Amino acid sequence: MKFASSIFAALVAIVALGYTCSTPNHAKAGYAPVLTTDDAAPVEDSMHEFMEYVFQPTYLRLKASMAAAPTDNKGWKAVKSDSLILAESCNLLFARKPDEHGEDWVKHATASKTHGAALYKAAREKNFEAATTAYTTMLNNCNACHKQFENGKHILQP
Ligand code: HEC
Repeated sequence: MKFASSIFAALVAIVALGYTCSTPNHAKAGYAPVLTTDDAAPVEDSMHEFMEYVFQPTYLRLKASMAAAPTDNKGWKAVKSDSLILAESCNLLFARKPDEHGEDWVKHATASKTHGAALYKAAREKNFEAATTAYTTMLNNCNACHKQFENGKHILQP
């Protein structure tokens, strides 16, 4: 009896230890992020740096990945990743709306995001035809913003 109860105690200890080790820290802390007063404040205020370091390298990678239909999962993963980065980054453009013609800015950002999302979806389905349409339409909308707000500079080619 004593033997049985010590085995039981040992089992409880093992299970408890396993639970503690497998529980990630954020779950233990109730998954509470540390909030600052302005949680969504941009890290980089300059629109130029934001486009240069977030949008440009992503676009250049995507251009290479979309030059021909991906032949393996790795190729599709690259398209999924970069299209999602661009689509989500378009969400960050809303906070950078200029005072003048802000509604057009939002319109271009929304359209770029929508077609970026369609590209992400097509890549998930490994549908290159739909991906190509979404990719070129997304770029047309990126360019529409560049035409209006950058006097036609940075016209991106598919
Ligand atoms: C709502 C407006 C807007 C949208 C939408 C937009 N951009 Fe831009 N983009 C800008 C502005 C403004 C600049 C110029 C920034 C500067 O140099 O001050 C720019 C510049 C760029 C540049 C040039 C960066 C450099 O260093 O010369 C690239 C590349 C670029 N954007 C890619 C994209 C891509 C890809 C998309 C679509 C997924 C996109 N942009 C959507 C406003 C926009």
